[in-house]
Amino acid sequence: MRDANLLFFFVAYSVLKELAYLNPYFFKYRYHFIGGIFFVAASNVFAVVSPQVVRHAINLVTESRDLYFSLAGTAAQADMRERFVGILLLFAGVYLVLALIRGAFMFFMRQTLIIMSRLVEYDLKNELYEQYQRLDQGFYRRNNTGDLMSRVAEDVGRVRMYIGPALMYAINLVVLFVLVIYTMVRINPTLTLYVLLPLPILSLSIYYVNNIINRRSEAIQAQLSELTSRAQEVFSGIRVVKAYAQEDPMAKHFDQECIEYRERSMGLARLDAIFQPLMMLLIGLSTIITILIGGQQVIAGTVTPGNVAEFVIYVNMLTWPVASLGWVASIIQRAAASQKRINEFLAITPVLVDEGREVPDFHGDIEFDNVSFTYPDTGIRALHNLNFRIPAGHRVALFGRTGSGKSTIAELLVRMYDPDSGVIRIDGVDLRDIPLRDLRRNIGYVPQDVFLFSESVAYNIQFGTIEAERSLERAKVLAGYASIAEEIDQFPRKFETRIGERGVTLSGGQKQRISIARAFSKNAPILLLDDCLSAVDAGTEKRILDNLEEYLQGKTALIITHRVFSLLDLDEILVLDQGTVAEKGSHDALLSAGGLYAELYEKQKREDHVA
Ligand SMILES: Nc1ncnc2c1ncn2[C@@H]1O[C@H](COP(=O)(O)OP(=O)(O)OP(=O)(O)O)[C@@H](O)[C@H]1O
Ligand SMILES: [Mg+2]
Repeated sequence: MRDANLLFFFVAYSVLKELAYLNPYFFKYRYHFIGGIFFVAASNVFAVVSPQVVRHAINLVTESRDLYFSLAGTAAQADMRERFVGILLLFAGVYLVLALIRGAFMFFMRQTLIIMSRLVEYDLKNELYEQYQRLDQGFYRRNNTGDLMSRVAEDVGRVRMYIGPALMYAINLVVLFVLVIYTMVRINPTLTLYVLLPLPILSLSIYYVNNIINRRSEAIQAQLSELTSRAQEVFSGIRVVKAYAQEDPMAKHFDQECIEYRERSMGLARLDAIFQPLMMLLIGLSTIITILIGGQQVIAGTVTPGNVAEFVIYVNMLTWPVASLGWVASIIQRAAASQKRINEFLAITPVLVDEGREVPDFHGDIEFDNVSFTYPDTGIRALHNLNFRIPAGHRVALFGRTGSGKSTIAELLVRMYDPDSGVIRIDGVDLRDIPLRDLRRNIGYVPQDVFLFSESVAYNIQFGTIEAERSLERAKVLAGYASIAEEIDQFPRKFETRIGERGVTLSGGQKQRISIARAFSKNAPILLLDDCLSAVDAGTEKRILDNLEEYLQGKTALIITHRVFSLLDLDEILVLDQGTVAEKGSHDALLSAGGLYAELYEKQKREDHVA
């Protein structure tokens, strides 16, 4: 028994500890909260008074019955009958008015408490969203999108159930209990005791069954999301499925998942089917006990028939809140589990610390000083004692085989990661000393894997422009720089055309060029292009490079490529091999040196020839 108590306190403690995070919100919305408690109390006062009206009505009838019959046949009986009906109608009227007032208070109770829960939900979602934006690349590689989404949607939803409905029912229960039991004990303590006996059983069994139901419905939810993601995958990969004639096996697989889902759903339905009648049975039991014991007491003369009727109403009034007690307990438990996950998530500190306070002029002098970097999740050593410097205003191409670490350099430069050792500097300032926003605002970056938002072309192109400066003209100029303007004019709604699932499907090369235009939109002093011309033909490549010549005036550019292009006037070419600089120099110098560059160039020339 002691152990059970200890366990109970331990569970209660850990539940409260997690949910304590929400307490400041109760303070923030204290007027809603206090108002809610007041309305709950007020509605219950009116609820408890109404059975007393019933008691008086019934007592009036039973007590005056003998007198009424003794007056049989006289004019006084008709008179009494008339008055009687009048009084009973009055009782009915009072009862109705009480119910209306109670209803009004219940309305305000929801308006305060449920609204408070929605407000907290809103705040929590924003808090989570901010944390998502603060976290770094490493976090997003370790976690999948589904988990992240569910944390915002499901976990916050469950916490809301605690702040809203669960708390409302709990307060309601406490107030109602105090009022009803006080009234009942004042009338007859023994009867009260008997009547309340089945209630704890009701509460416990509901708690127990409700937990099973929750567990099963969660399993069903999981199955459903499995099913949905499978369907989604098949739909988005439908071309591959059809091209490989795999429709039948896929359908069979899907069918199996569906059968599983059906079985689980039916299991839950069966449990539900038993649960409802069981509850009704227990509630009915209380009523029967009231009438049985109450009837005996009426015969013994300790209570009036009106009291018995009153008690029946009280019992029915209590059963629902008592039943909800089990429900409330399991909601709170689930909310605590969700809040625990939320707390853990909010406690994650980004590995990248943004504490720099030094803002350089951003002339664009870039320096890698003995930089080494190993990807933390895979342990792959991508950069190895890397040294190079790009003076402000220079154009440098970064060239190397696939996997040599080119994109890693770009990611380090925009500080998606920090180097393990060594220092990266811009204008002589360590990147870690520069506020992240300032750093990233001053680098126009075209990542290797293009990502565009499902928005209009104009929006995507001007993503880096501050809102006030966005305009169609500007979008056109930027598109012109990236040699994509003419193609955009062919789209159904030109610059207003939506990209992505519900809009136009762009070719790889078109996506790349929109992504380049987007990098231009920042008008940053440093431009970082990661393999951004891989999907365009030679003619377009030349046009972009010509435009680039104009755009790049006075800017520092780092152009990553694994194709050699001699068209652009470069200051230097860095040849990267296994995470370190193997050679550097001009195109001609590197060719005549006959090293890695020359080898790769020859290879490319042969391939181009074949193609
Ligand atoms: N996010 C990552 N997590 C773990 N390892 C990575 C990650 N990105 C790259 N790597 C590894 O780091 C090494 C360098 O990769 P990087 O992307 O820098 O090459 P790259 O020169 O850009 O190649 P490509 O020309 O194919 O784009 C590779 O071995 C790669 O497998
Ligand atoms: Mg790369």
